[in-house]
Amino acid sequence: MPHALLGPPYSDTTSRSPSTLTAKTDRSWMRSPSAIAIVTPPPARSYRHRGWRFGRQWHVASLPVASLPVPAELCTDRLRLRRWQPEDLEPFAALNDDPVVMEHFPSRPSGAESDAMVERIEAAFGRDGYGLWAVEVVASGRFAGFTGLWPATFEAPFTPAVEVGWRLARWSWGRGVATEAARAALADGFARLAVDEIVSFTSVGNERSRRVMQKLGMTHDPHDDFEHPALPAGHPLRRHVLYRLGRPREAEADGPLRSASG
Ligand SMILES: CC(C)(COP(=O)(O)OP(=O)(O)OC[C@H]1O[C@@H](n2cnc3c(N)ncnc32)[C@H](O)[C@@H]1OP(=O)(O)O)[C@@H](O)C(=O)NCCC(=O)NCCS
Repeated sequence: MPHALLGPPYSDTTSRSPSTLTAKTDRSWMRSPSAIAIVTPPPARSYRHRGWRFGRQWHVASLPVASLPVPAELCTDRLRLRRWQPEDLEPFAALNDDPVVMEHFPSRPSGAESDAMVERIEAAFGRDGYGLWAVEVVASGRFAGFTGLWPATFEAPFTPAVEVGWRLARWSWGRGVATEAARAALADGFARLAVDEIVSFTSVGNERSRRVMQKLGMTHDPHDDFEHPALPAGHPLRRHVLYRLGRPREAEADGPLRSASG
């Protein structure tokens, strides 16, 4: 299916039907970055995650499901990471149609595909307990794009894994928005998911995205570089770099993931 190439996620269907969205939860505990605690999550639940490529099953893997409820929102100094609203669809379709934003993706989603992506993202929050947050700039109330976590289920040496990813409108670039939002999403992910690490990956030439990964303290081992199986052999974007971030130890909870600024 073409939308499988428009990641993240590159592949994102599962064998589980989306459940109803998580009920409203107490928002107060995530009000400020200082409230984001790195805790050892309760024992993991997991489920069998079935990936599909062009309608064909190609990989089955186990992935964690958050053991704690999804916070209603994550707030940083300048940003609000929240669930998606109908008003986000138009600006999201616009950024998905921007050739510069989508320079490192094999194609640009149509308006309908962009809307469908939001539906899948919202379904993932209900199903997995994590997902790609809509990022809003608090001062203006303007929707900037998404940052958050996503299951990586395609076949690769490091999968199944939880990925952190981002896609923002061009007007918001270069102000540390992606880094600030990702720190909040990662802190929440490590607090609620029983994972030892969260990864990120992109095509080799996506220097902006790689810089965000570096600023987050993620590490890159060239031995982990891989060919993305959703792209055909010889495709210029097929070669990918992998960055890893291990679960912070309790003593490091005041470290980079705690900081809100980029
Ligand atoms: C990648 C993206 C999310 C970054 O958003 P952002 O809010 O501008 O990110 P930040 O400001 O936190 O950090 C960007 C860093 O990249 C640097 N940068 C920008 N252009 C660069 C380039 N061409 N080469 C190297 N570094 C570059 C910036 O200087 C900044 O680093 P610094 O803080 O050390 O100066 C945004 O560019 C985007 O949405 N790109 C299109 C979608 C995409 O590629 N998503 C990732 C797919 S894996």
